[in-house]
Amino acid sequence: MSSLYTTGPVRASDSQRTLSYDKESAFKYTTEGDVETDSEGSADHSQAACRAEETLEVEEVDESVKEDMKRLEDTFPGISDRFRLVNRIGEGTFSTVYKAEDLLYNHYRNDWDAFQEAQEDNWAAPPSKRRRLSAGDRQSMPTKRRQPRYVAVKKIYVTSSPLRIQNELELLHDLRGCKSVCPLITAFRHQDQVVAVLPYFPHSDFRIQYRTFLVADMRHYFRSLFTALVSVHKHNILHRDIKPTNFLYNPDLREGVLVDFGLAEREGSEYTGTCLCVNPSHVRRNRILGSYYSTNSTSVLANGYPKNDSRPSRRANRAGTRGFRAPEVLFKCTSQTTKIDMWSAGVILLTLLGRRFPFFNSADDVDAMIEMASIFGTQRMKAAAALHGQIFESNIPTIGDKGYNWEKLIKWASCVEDLTESEKQATRLLAGLMELDPSKRLSAREALEHEFFTKPKDHDVEWGGNPDESAGSGDEADEDEADEVAMV
Ligand SMILES: Nc1ncnc2c1ncn2[C@@H]1O[C@H](COP(=O)(O)OP(=O)(O)OP(=O)(O)O)[C@@H](O)[C@H]1O
Ligand SMILES: [Mg+2]
Repeated sequence: MSSLYTTGPVRASDSQRTLSYDKESAFKYTTEGDVETDSEGSADHSQAACRAEETLEVEEVDESVKEDMKRLEDTFPGISDRFRLVNRIGEGTFSTVYKAEDLLYNHYRNDWDAFQEAQEDNWAAPPSKRRRLSAGDRQSMPTKRRQPRYVAVKKIYVTSSPLRIQNELELLHDLRGCKSVCPLITAFRHQDQVVAVLPYFPHSDFRIQYRTFLVADMRHYFRSLFTALVSVHKHNILHRDIKPTNFLYNPDLREGVLVDFGLAEREGSEYTGTCLCVNPSHVRRNRILGSYYSTNSTSVLANGYPKNDSRPSRRANRAGTRGFRAPEVLFKCTSQTTKIDMWSAGVILLTLLGRRFPFFNSADDVDAMIEMASIFGTQRMKAAAALHGQIFESNIPTIGDKGYNWEKLIKWASCVEDLTESEKQATRLLAGLMELDPSKRLSAREALEHEFFTKPKDHDVEWGGNPDESAGSGDEADEDEADEVAMV
């Protein structure tokens, strides 16, 4: 018998519920102590039955998704005894996520269940995806039906390393009880398959929402995101993959939850040598001045790169998503901090203010640096690279020395003549988040203390632009050199 992951405060406590793996029965639970009984559960069912009868709906599911869910049920013994898979709601790089009804909800204490409110009155799922039960469907359904309780079942791909999976589950366990962080309910393993079970959190699709978000909406969104990040960072955990699909936002509740700790790590856990950026500026300056680059600048500045580069390659964690990686990640900083998440949050704000998604669209890290340089200019990029003992050079003629200020950039991106006072205020927050030097970048706590939250300007103007027009190719970029100014 091999033990499975059991997790802390969620559902029944460990003493009440132990999950164990057994060769014959695949997995079984033993419940002890003060657990809700079946009879209580049944009473609950009948009370909810009338309500459920009225509102009973089933989701329309593609045939291919049905097959996929069936495969999981067939290959993961016992899973269908506890969950009824309803639909596939996410397919990521490392996992597939399903919406599922928690069939044994009433058998456990459900301390995690702060989201039911969202599932019941306050949230209507998009109508196109749901249909009412036909008379035939109704007949085939059990007559007594409980108010369905939904969870998200995350099937982690077997290609993920066991260490990575363990890391994700452990960090989620450490973060239990943190506001705006999606808690882990429990997790199961069958052979090399692992599923994590999380509360299902109804959320809007960012790709649609971002076009119409008012600044007031952004305030709710970021208050919730920064609240999550304050907790995560207080635990010295870097999420590493802050992006819209990992922050599930519910506009009706004006709350979101942070998910996907698959790439998260504890600060300083990947020790590959201290980066130059942790030294005081005079030490950094001396090191750069004494470098081969400074003393042989003419030969280094020749175009191209050495055919046989004998220097040891620099290794640094670059986990994250294209377009959301902080500059220090691109510059292979070996002392990355929680500030990398603040940069990524800044990219989301830039997307919302600029009404362009994705805002950055680079093919690789070098491309990403070029995109940054087009905004910040070479001078600031060189300074940012030097912080980490790196050299930034570009001979691309369209990249100027000084870059653009944020207000100008947002006006250009969102095709407006002027920004409202509230947009200007949000832009000031943006400048604090998208600061190239991580030591000067706002922390989550500082961001929450920014005037954007503490003295909000309410001059919102509804976004009236045609979404198609807002998603321009970028060809219309104002390339007037005279407009190039130092960054705010
Ligand atoms: N608790 C939840 N409630 C509702 N939907 C969820 C939940 N957790 C995940 N999802 C959906 O599943 C998607 C993928 O989840 P997650 O990010 O955890 O997996 P992933 O494989 O790491 O994804 P990616 O590689 O795209 O980042 C999310 O973007 C979201 O749409
Ligand atoms: Mg994800």
